[in-house]
Amino acid sequence: MAARTILVTGGAGYIGAVMCEALREHGMQAVVLDNLSHGYRDAVPPGAVFVGGDVGDAAVVRELFARHAIDAVIHMAAYIEVGESMLAPRKYFDNNFARPLVLLEAMEGAGVRKFVLSSTAAVYGAPERVPIPEDAALRPLNPYGWSKLMLEQALAWHAAARGWRYAALRYFNAAGATERCGERHQPETHLIPLVLEAAAGEREAIAIFGSDYDTADGTCIRDYIHVRDLAEAHIVALRQLDEPASATADLAAHAWNIGNGQGFSVREVIAAAEKVCGRKIPTQLHPRRPGDPPALVASAAKLQAAGWRPRHTNLEEIIASAWHWKLRQPQGLAAGKPGSGKALSSPGA
Ligand code: UFG
Repeated sequence: MAARTILVTGGAGYIGAVMCEALREHGMQAVVLDNLSHGYRDAVPPGAVFVGGDVGDAAVVRELFARHAIDAVIHMAAYIEVGESMLAPRKYFDNNFARPLVLLEAMEGAGVRKFVLSSTAAVYGAPERVPIPEDAALRPLNPYGWSKLMLEQALAWHAAARGWRYAALRYFNAAGATERCGERHQPETHLIPLVLEAAAGEREAIAIFGSDYDTADGTCIRDYIHVRDLAEAHIVALRQLDEPASATADLAAHAWNIGNGQGFSVREVIAAAEKVCGRKIPTQLHPRRPGDPPALVASAAKLQAAGWRPRHTNLEEIIASAWHWKLRQPQGLAAGKPGSGKALSSPGA
């Protein structure tokens, strides 16, 4: 029997590349669609088919579905910076909501009706309590969260009105690295890679954005989930889409939180990184970053009940995987620019 073929949009990005690795290990074929605006061609694992292009380019996506027998789509291509979305909301609504509608249209035309969306904990805004269940109130605090929530809503109506099967995976904070794939965003805005840059002496200090939150040490709390565990959650979600389900437009019915259910403050992350790296990491206090909720911690009970078991639940272990990946990079992470990514080819890639 031919291997099942999954389209991974954004498959040249940090999480997308790990997703392709996981699909392959589960005996599935990955077709990557990526415009390389933020991804790296060399991040796409060997064996995956690469198509250069944008999810909003109707000709490209129609051609892709005509050429490949796609069984389901994992849609990861998106802009992901909360702070930037506060400054450039239209950019986020265009890329994260409007363009994927073109993809949905091409899917409908090709008769592909299974979709896994990379959604986000940002849809919850500042939740009333943590851990957050999937049916908590949806009140994003930033355009990034809204752009993802709007796509969830569009998919919910595709499920109810058109019989689509979809899963919205609400990621908490993806972190860590596999043997060949780690985080190399340009520009980097995420806490753990920036902390590791400070540890490596590539930046003077790590900025702590706000120390006056209503949390135990005054800094924001997040739920860090290893990127490979995150990818495995999509495999579970794909299996769920094969099961019969009632057609409903209820967002919570289609949503799955992916997190470890454990929150760590910014200061705790820095302390854990100091242990992993065996050195003091200089810090600088900064004002709060607009759009940041004080605490986001998942209840991932639903996904666990469906058979998902995270393997890397220890924060130091997650940080250590990122640190060791970083140390293996030949020229330091600052060297590469998105696109070809040749300067940063991983050994063994
Ligand atoms: N932070 C700092 N200093 C930095 C960078 C970040 O103090 O230099 C703080 C942030 O203020 C925040 C925490 O570290 O409190 C984590 O920030 P990240 O930028 O690493 O991650 P976010 O929580 O803002 O966002 C991430 C993803 C989003 C996703 C969200 C869901 O980037 O896509 O997790 O929790 F929506």
